[in-house]
Amino acid sequence: MGKYYITTPIYYSNAAPHVGHAYATTLADILARFHRLQNDDVFFLTGTADHGQKIQQKAGEAGITPKELTDQNAEFFKDLYSKLEISNDFFIRNSDKENHWPGAQTLWQRLVESGDIYKGSYEGLYCIGCEKFITEKELADGRCPDHDKAPEKVVEENYFFKLSKYSDQLRDIIANDEIRIYPENRKNELLAFIDSDLEDVSFSRPKGKVGWAIPVPDDPVQNMYVWCEELSNYISAIGYGRDEEQFKSLWPADVHIVGKDILRFHAIIWPAMLLSAGLELPKSILGTGLIISGGRKMSKTIGNVIDPQDLIDKYGAEAVRYYFARHISPFTDGDLTIEGFEEAYSGNLVNGIGNLVSRIMKLAETHLDRSVERSEAEAFPEQYVEAFEKFEFNRAVDFIWEKIQKLDERIAEEEPFKVVKEDEEKGKQMIAQLASELCVIARLLNPIMPETSEKIKKAVLSNKKPENLFPRLES
Ligand code: MSP
Repeated sequence: MGKYYITTPIYYSNAAPHVGHAYATTLADILARFHRLQNDDVFFLTGTADHGQKIQQKAGEAGITPKELTDQNAEFFKDLYSKLEISNDFFIRNSDKENHWPGAQTLWQRLVESGDIYKGSYEGLYCIGCEKFITEKELADGRCPDHDKAPEKVVEENYFFKLSKYSDQLRDIIANDEIRIYPENRKNELLAFIDSDLEDVSFSRPKGKVGWAIPVPDDPVQNMYVWCEELSNYISAIGYGRDEEQFKSLWPADVHIVGKDILRFHAIIWPAMLLSAGLELPKSILGTGLIISGGRKMSKTIGNVIDPQDLIDKYGAEAVRYYFARHISPFTDGDLTIEGFEEAYSGNLVNGIGNLVSRIMKLAETHLDRSVERSEAEAFPEQYVEAFEKFEFNRAVDFIWEKIQKLDERIAEEEPFKVVKEDEEKGKQMIAQLASELCVIARLLNPIMPETSEKIKKAVLSNKKPENLFPRLES
């Protein structure tokens, strides 16, 4: 028992959420629900990044203000999350002047006081698609490989943050697991990057270039750029710079969940900022793989983009949560195709848990005079707890499905439907035991599929077969 503070990235609100956003947020939700069941005091944060040139540009094209554009898209995120049963405690937006700006600006001032912010002239290449400066080395044929666009040449005055000063400290922190990196093998990539000579990073941009951003304190012409205005959400949202008491009760984060593409700046730039400000470091960072489809990055051009909203409409939110947790490994890139999804849906939901619940509850309803006693909540099995502690979501779900399979086998071997006709008492006992095993399964399922878990529990406690949990797909 203790506090558990968990975060997702703040996602760009330049468009509606895509499947990658739904994925990380669902994992975070599963973890949050698990820890609540462990009686931890959970705080689960997610939100949107509303600022930047790309959003400014897109709003301009649509003839609306950046605020209008991001308000609309933030609603799409919230709407998707409510369908996906995301139980976040707060939703932070970096355009939120009341809740976010005090934290971002206080942090900036702390970095200045530590002597880590200095003014310099910046010459570089800026990719609006990435919303980041990129290097010559990263280009393919002079274009950003992710956005297939030539970056903009930029020469301007910026404030810089002395990242280089923290190289040695950062190396120790990562090497000694002071911040635990999951999966472990990404640690080496981070160490190699630190050893390749960390350069100071640009922390601001002229207001004339990016007007839609947080102003740098005490400077009329500079706005913050990405790092301080986005990473700071993890502390601003819980009160840094405005509610010291709440901040103290929740910081440091127990885990930041991010995609592997932004792990580097969470594990290097963010800790350096925290060191500079004299704040504690997050305890762990999970860098997930990315979701691909048919072996390739999802892209409109290839036509393999899968919309999370469509998945929910067609298969239901519970199936989507199940698929993310079990069939996409949190540590490597994971393939998502409609065929694969339907196979898992039919095999493990319709014919797995759905079928098991309906078989057992049909027997219970027919032969038992009353429902089985509700058993006192026991501690979760060690294997299951350990899987969550190591962020091995798929292993936690495998553990449940092993139980489901065992129950199926037990019914096939013991044949309670026959026994109950020959020896009623013995048959009834068998059926009651099966029903109470369903309660155990329901409890284990709770973090992953909260609604299914409730339905199973209700069925057992009312001794009534529930409606079809997972309708068969039409062939
Ligand atoms: N605003 C920054 C994050 C700042 S956090 C302080 C940002 N936003 S983003 O909208 O681009 O979303 C990034 C997150 O979505 C990353 O964690 C990234 O890995 C994740 N994903 C983007 N595409 C993805 C997949 N196809 N699959 C899984 N996650 C993906 O970067």
